[in-house]
Order: sequence, then structure tokens, then C-alpha cells
Amino acid sequence: MADFAELKIDGKKVECPVIIGTEGEKAFDIGKLRSQSGCITLDPGFANTGSCASAITFLDGEKGILRYRGIPIEQLAEKSTFVETSYLLIHGRLPNHDELDAFSEAFNEHSMIHEDMINFFHAYPSTSHPMAILSAMVCAMSAYYPEFVKERPAQEEIDRIAIQLLSKVRTICAFSYKKSIGEPFVYPRYDLSYVPNFLNMMFSSPTHPYKIVDEVVRALQVLLILHADHEQNCSTSTVRLVGSSHANLYASISAGICALWGPLHGGANQAVIEMLEKIQKDGGNVSKYIAMAKDKNSNFRLMGFGHRVYKNFDPRAKIIKKRADDLLNKLGIHDPLLELAKKMEETALKDEYFIERKLYPNVDFYSGIIYRAIGIPLNMFPVMFAIGRLPGWIAHWKEMIQDPATKIGRPLQIYVGETKKDYTPIEKR
Ligand code: SDX
Repeated sequence: MADFAELKIDGKKVECPVIIGTEGEKAFDIGKLRSQSGCITLDPGFANTGSCASAITFLDGEKGILRYRGIPIEQLAEKSTFVETSYLLIHGRLPNHDELDAFSEAFNEHSMIHEDMINFFHAYPSTSHPMAILSAMVCAMSAYYPEFVKERPAQEEIDRIAIQLLSKVRTICAFSYKKSIGEPFVYPRYDLSYVPNFLNMMFSSPTHPYKIVDEVVRALQVLLILHADHEQNCSTSTVRLVGSSHANLYASISAGICALWGPLHGGANQAVIEMLEKIQKDGGNVSKYIAMAKDKNSNFRLMGFGHRVYKNFDPRAKIIKKRADDLLNKLGIHDPLLELAKKMEETALKDEYFIERKLYPNVDFYSGIIYRAIGIPLNMFPVMFAIGRLPGWIAHWKEMIQDPATKIGRPLQIYVGETKKDYTPIEKR
């Protein structure tokens, strides 16, 4: 393998050192390109551009591989918990017994939000999208915990904020749901672990205590684990970019929540169910909608399908599809949208348009089926994605702020506007 790539332009030769990752991925470093050639690269959507070196998550889009700190996602989904996986992502290794106990204990210590923050909820309209509330409340945390609003917090301060965010975001999300249905907030309980606490805050009420079902807890654990990180996706890149200006962790996470909200990204899980409901209402004509998805003029996309990196099955989609089947069978639920989703998948995977473009179901295609079975409302689906992705965002922010090679993110552009011309003052009336 050559040690560098050679770029020639206008008679100039630029040698770009080749970087090889621990899994054999190759890149060439164009750090000197502009100074040595006067040129820049242009790569809309950054489909061919690496923004950093990272040790957190490895994914191979061709082989459908996803590993957190080297551990295959299939093993974590089968055997780990969301709290343990969050520790793995943020600290770089699995915790021992004492570390896990202390980490879990700290979640209970920090599960309440500042009581004054409850006032925000009384000001939001009951129809507010919970992603709007979540991003605002996370940024507002910087006002309530100013001691952590530092340019470069120390390791232990970052770890404290991490636990605070992971625990309080769960409470904020549950409170936003209660606000939307006009029910009193149910506070976190010290005796419940992460997922049961969330479910209790969401679905318990003074008149109806919520019965915690193991299968539901496990299904939600698995979904949160599967969403916990995904290397340099749009929202994680946003968290890193905002943090690169030395904005605090709360502000960076708030920006990540906003990026995730988009239907092309974390908002897709909500868009998939809205799509399936529309198809079902329209008689369930799968062929009609597959044809529309192929027709550029139809303005219809098969939501939950396709991925920038996976050109094979998204390993998470496979696990979620099986978990959806298992949970609905265990709960005795028949959801026609699951059957419709399977028919859409089966038809698309046999169609040349999808095969040629290597379009497969992604993490969002089946996840909404599980959220529906649990009773989570549609507009909370992106919020569930955010709760899951939070440890990944924090791990990347920590890696970015602690990396001496990190510089403020400031891409360039190719200008295609007007060339120089003089100002012409408006004629006097
Ligand atoms: C997530 O990056 C991550 O890791 C994200 C994520 C994570 O964990 O963080 O995995 C989570 O965001 C998953 C993706 C959720 N979004 C959706 O399901 C929305 C539907 N999918 C598409 O919009 C699209 O596939 C994207 C946004 C996911 C990927 O977009 P790309 O990589 O920019 O691909 P593209 O739009 O350039 O598509 C390439 C071709 C085009 O056709 P041609 O111009 O070549 O003829 O494939 C077509 C597209 O029209 N295409 C689709 C399609 N997705 C791509 N056609 C119909 N339906 C689709 N869903």
C-alpha cells in the first residue's frame, strides 16, 4: 500500500499521506491540499469525506457490521443493558460490578429536573412537538447547572454532566408526554432502574399504576442499545461541530436533537408509521406506493428505506424486525402495519430500482411498530431515538474535546454567485 496519494493539478503535485484505520479503512489526508495547490475538495453531504478519527463505533456498510468499542451490536442487544452500553460508549470499556452499580446509582441521584424547569412545561402549548421541548429543555439545563458550562470541562465534570443528561433527558421526555395528555407529571422513583423508571413516568397515573412487563422493558432496552451510536451520522456530526467551537455540552446536545428531528434522519421512525397509515388508508396497495417511490416526480419516498453507509442490510433493522414479531406475539397484539411493512419490504427487495441502488430497510423501518405496541405516541418516536442516541453524542463530544488534533469545524465553499459589481443607489423619487 503506497504511503501517500498523489494529486496533480495545474502542474503542481501534492502528496497526501495515507491513513489506515484499525479495520483497514483507507483515507488520504488532504490537510496540505489548499496551501500546496490552492485547491479545495467539494463533497456535498460529505459522502466521501471523513471529518475525524474516532475509536467509538465501527461500521462496515458493505458487510452490515456495527460494533461499539469493538463489540458487535448483536451481542450487546442480546446480553447488555442500555445503562451498561452507555458506560461502554462513554468510558471506552465495559464497567465492572462496582462501576456499573455506581453508574446506575448516579442515574437515580440525578433523575429529577430542577423544579423551576417545570414552569417551562406550563408555557408550552399541549400540541408542542416533544423534540422542540427536548432541545429547548436540554439547552436550558445550562442555565440551571452553570457550574458545568465550561469551555473544556475536566474528565470527571464531563462524566457528571453525562449522567445528568442521560438521567434527566428521560424525565424531560416523560414529562412532555404527560403535558401533551393533560395528566400530572409522575416523578422518577429511586427503586426503579432506567427503562422501568421511564415507562412508569410515561404511563403511570394517580388512578392507574402502570404494570411493568419484562418483555416490554427488554424490547425497549434493545431499541435504546441499537440507537446508542452510529459514528459520524448527521446529528452526531452536528454535536461534534457545535462542540468544536467550545460551546458547552448542553448546547451541543441540544443542536444534535434538532438535527436528529429531520425526517431524513431520526424523524424517519415517525414518518414510516405516517407513511404506512397513509398506505393502509388508501387500501394497502403496496405496488402503487413502490411505483411512487421509484417515480422522482411523485414526491414520495419509501421512508425507513435506504442509508448513506449501509449498502447491505442495516444490522439493526434485522434485530428490530425480529423483536417486533416477538413482542407483538407475546402481548397478543396484531398490528396490520407490521404486515404491511413486511409486504413493502418484500416487494421492494425484489424490485430492480431498490436492488440497483442497494436500498434496504434501515433502523427506522420497524422500530415504530414496537413503540406503538408499547403505547408510545407517534410524535414521541424521534424522542425515543434521541434518548437512545444520547450516550453516543456524549461519547463523541468527549472524544472531540479531548483530542488535541481537534480544530474548530469551518468548511469552505466554491462561490458561484455574482462577480464584483458596484453599488447602485436607488434613484431619487
Ligand atoms: C438514519 O447516517 C446514519 O447513520 C443515520 C442513522 C443513524 O443511526 O444515525 O442510521 C439513522 O437517519 C437512518 C435513515 C432514516 N431516513 C430515512 O429512512 C428516509 C428515507 N431514506 C432516504 O431519504 C435516503 O435513503 C437517506 C437519507 C437515508 C440516505 O440518503 P443518501 O445517502 O443521500 O442517498 P440519496 O438520496 O442520494 O439516494 C441515492 C438514490 C437516489 O436515486 P437516484 O438519484 O440515484 O436515481 O437512491 C434513491 C434516491 O432517489 N433513494 C430512494 C430512497 N432512498 C434513496 N428512493 C426511494 N425511497 C428511498 N427511501
